[in-house]
Amino acid sequence: MALVRRWSSFLVIGAVFIFVFYRLRSPITTPGAADTTLTPTHPHSSVSEPHIGSTKFLWKDIPIQNKVTSYIAYPSGNPQQLSKIQHDFSKDTGPQTKIEKELREKRQAEVRNTAKRAWAAYREYAWLQDELDPINGGGKNTFGGWAATLIDSLDTLWIMDLKDEFHEAVKAVKEVDFSSSSQQTVNIFETTIRHLGGLLAAYDLSKEKILLAKAIEVGDMIYKAFDTPNHMPVARWNWAKAAAGTPQTAPEQVLVAELGSLTMEFTHLTQATGDKKYYDAVARIMDVFQREQNNTLLPGMWPVAVNAKTEDFKSDNAFTLAAMADSAYEYLPKMHALLGGIDARYESMYRIAMDTAIKHTLFRPMTPDESDILVSGFARPNGDSVKLDPQLQHLVCYTGGLFAIGGKLFDIPEHVRIAQKLTNACIWAYKAFPYGIMPEVSHLVPCASMDHCPWAEEVWRGAVLQRSSVGADNPEDVLHYISQSRLPEGIAKVDDGRYILRPEAIESVFVMYRVTGEQSMQAAAWDMFTAIQKHTATDIANSAIADVTAPDTIAPKAGNMESFWIAETLKYFYLIFSDPSVISLDEYVFNTEAHPYRRPV
Ligand SMILES: *[C@@H]1O[C@H](CO)[C@@H](O)[C@H](O)[C@H]1NC(C)=O
Repeated sequence: MALVRRWSSFLVIGAVFIFVFYRLRSPITTPGAADTTLTPTHPHSSVSEPHIGSTKFLWKDIPIQNKVTSYIAYPSGNPQQLSKIQHDFSKDTGPQTKIEKELREKRQAEVRNTAKRAWAAYREYAWLQDELDPINGGGKNTFGGWAATLIDSLDTLWIMDLKDEFHEAVKAVKEVDFSSSSQQTVNIFETTIRHLGGLLAAYDLSKEKILLAKAIEVGDMIYKAFDTPNHMPVARWNWAKAAAGTPQTAPEQVLVAELGSLTMEFTHLTQATGDKKYYDAVARIMDVFQREQNNTLLPGMWPVAVNAKTEDFKSDNAFTLAAMADSAYEYLPKMHALLGGIDARYESMYRIAMDTAIKHTLFRPMTPDESDILVSGFARPNGDSVKLDPQLQHLVCYTGGLFAIGGKLFDIPEHVRIAQKLTNACIWAYKAFPYGIMPEVSHLVPCASMDHCPWAEEVWRGAVLQRSSVGADNPEDVLHYISQSRLPEGIAKVDDGRYILRPEAIESVFVMYRVTGEQSMQAAAWDMFTAIQKHTATDIANSAIADVTAPDTIAPKAGNMESFWIAETLKYFYLIFSDPSVISLDEYVFNTEAHPYRRPV
C-alpha cells in the first residue's frame, strides 16, 4: 500500500519533514492542500476554456500537444518461468489439518461479515461518493468524486464471493464520469492506484467489459497528465486546464513515490488493451530512475523529493523506504513479476536499492523481550556519514512483503530472513500498545548491535526524555511523563497516535504466511483482526482511531473510513484465512492498493 496516498494522512507530518528536516531548496506543493477545494459545478473561470463540466467527452479526444514520436518498445520475448513465491502447501498434511481448516474458515467468515457490513453501509449512506462517514452515515468526496470506495472494493467483493454486491457495483461504474471532477486538483498517483488499479484487477477477475472500458477512460485521463515537454507526468494535476488545452510542464518538486509507482497500472493497461502508449509513458520514467540511481546523495536509493522537470535527483538528502517513497521500491520486484521477468532492469534496480536500504535504513530496536526484529527507518546522508532516524511508521510495515517477494523472485534467502524480521517488528508493535494496534508514527530506540541487544531501561528512558519536551533531568519526571503519555516500553515517542484502518501490517503478515506456510502468521493476523474489529467497529461500519494510546476502554474514533479498508485491509485479512491457492502469489501480483493483476504465463 502505499505512499502518498498516504499522503492525505501524511499531510502534517510530511509538511514537517519537508520543511524542517529535509531542507529542500524550495518547498514542495503541500499535498492535499489543493485537494480540499471543492468546485463541483463550473471549474472554468476563464472564458477561453470550453464548457466541459456539463458536457461529456472522452479524454482520448483531447489533443496531445507533446506527441511521442517513437514508443519505447514493450520488452520482447516470452514470459519466463520465475522462481515460486509461495510455500508448497501441498506437502502440509497431517492430523491437525481438518481442525485447522474449520478454524480458518470460521475466521474467514468473520472477516467477510465485516466487509459485507461496511459495504452495506457505504451502499446505503454514501453510494457513488468516495468515502463513507462510518459514524454518522453520509459520505464525502476526497478523491475526485469518482466513487473511490466503490471502484476500490470491486475485486474484494468478487474474491469474497459477494457476487450480488459485485454486479450491482459493476452496473454503477457506468455512471462514474471521468470528464469532470469534484476537485480542482487530481492526485494522479491516487487515481492510478485506486481507480485504474481497481478497475483493471476487477476486470482480470470477472472479465466484465465495462470495467476495461472504464479503465481505458481513466487511463486516458491520466495519460493526459503526461503531456509535458519531457513526458514526465504532472503529479497534482489541474484537469480542467488540461482539458482546455493549457500547456503543462512536469513539476520541479514531486514525491518520488508519485513518480515511481505508476508502472504496474500502465503496464497492465497495455497488457489488457495491446495499446503500447501506456507502457511507453511509464518506461520513460523508469529510464530516468535507472539513470539516476547511482547519482543521488545516497547512491542506490532515490530521495523523497525529486525534480521531474529537470530530471535532477541530486538535491534532496532524505531517504526512506517509507511514506513518500514506498511504492517506488515496492514496484521493482512486482514489475519483474508483472512482465514475466523479460526486463532485467527491475531486478537490477531492486538489488542495488535494497543493498543500500539494508545498509543505511535498517535497525534493530531495543525491546523488553529482546526480540530479534528489524525496522526500516529514515536515512539522511551528511558529508561522509549517514544519520539514521529510528522511526517506525505503520506504513513502512509493507517492507516485510517487499523483501519477501524480492527474496523469493530473485533467490536471495537473506532477503526472506530480513522480511520475517521486518514483519515481526510490526507484530511486536501491535502487541506493545494497549489496544493491540500500533500507531501511524512512533520512534524506537536502535540497538548498537544487530546480534545482541539487551534491554536497558535507563537507555530507553533517556531516549524518551530526549524526544520529549519535558526538559526534565530527574528520573521522576521521566517516569511521570511515560505514565502520562502511556508509552509502552521500547517506544521512545508516539509522533502520530492514529490508526487509520491501514493495511501494511496485515499485508506483510499475509505475504509471509504465503511464503513460509507458518501458522504463527495466521495466529498473528487473527490477533490483529480481533483488536482492530473491537476498537474500530461503529454502529454501521468501521472507523479510524483517533489515538491508540488513549486511556479509554474502547478506542476513540476519528470518524473516517478510507477506501483501502475494504480494498486492502479486509482483503488481506480474508486471504490469509483462504485456501492458499486463492489469488496465489505465483499467479497474481498485487499493486500497492492490493489490486491483484494476473501474471503472464
Ligand atoms: C550502481 O552501483 C552499484 C553498486 O555499487 C553497481 O553494482 C552498479 O553497477 C551501478 N550501476 C550503474 C548503472 O552504474
